[in-house]
Amino acid sequence: METIKISPSLLSADWLKLGQELDNLFDWGADMVHCDVIDGIFAPNITFGMPMIRALKKASKLPLDVHLMIIEPERYIDEFIAAGSHDIAFHPEASKRPHELLRKIANAGVKAGIALNPDVPVSVAAEFIDEIDFILLMGVFPGFGGQKFIPAVMDKIDECKKLIAGRNVYVELDGGVCLDNIGEMKRRGLDAAVAGNAVFAAADPASAVRALKER
Ligand code: DX5
Ligand code: ZN
Repeated sequence: METIKISPSLLSADWLKLGQELDNLFDWGADMVHCDVIDGIFAPNITFGMPMIRALKKASKLPLDVHLMIIEPERYIDEFIAAGSHDIAFHPEASKRPHELLRKIANAGVKAGIALNPDVPVSVAAEFIDEIDFILLMGVFPGFGGQKFIPAVMDKIDECKKLIAGRNVYVELDGGVCLDNIGEMKRRGLDAAVAGNAVFAAADPASAVRALKER
């Protein structure tokens, strides 16, 4: 049985020790490193941008799973691609030319994803289905780590799985993932999960990653 992929979010890491945290994530058995890029306009927090992705790329043994919570991501997409992103998800409502943007990401050999906020229906992803490699389903409104999962999002996993049936598209859930809900997400066919607090705030992060995979 293939296990779910775990992508710990650096938002909850110790930023004074990011190099060490990247090594830790590899040792703990994480599959990807989730990088939350927030501009303070699309979502209420300000994190980091392309220079940070470039720096992370140099030090990370794991692929960088880049989540853009910025308006008009087309303004910076070339730089996020060149910085070494393994995959890039953006919120379609934030972009003026989402179709063109998806094509650009894919043509660069980077996996392209559409992020759906809790109040954005799965039908929005249907519009992009021929152009995406994954759907990033938000379990919380973006901005901060450590928020509680919105239970109504659980059924959206089923809707996504129905939508992508027979296609080479995967579903990743971001926000509020924890040991209490990941089992149910897996039973519904979720392929990957972001986990910020569930990993970095755990007393033993290595066993937290293992437990998230085994639930
Ligand atoms: C929310 C971010 C998430 C968040 C996840 O704005 O997109 O990636 O950091 O953190 P947890 O797992 O703590 O909800
Ligand atoms: Zn995220």
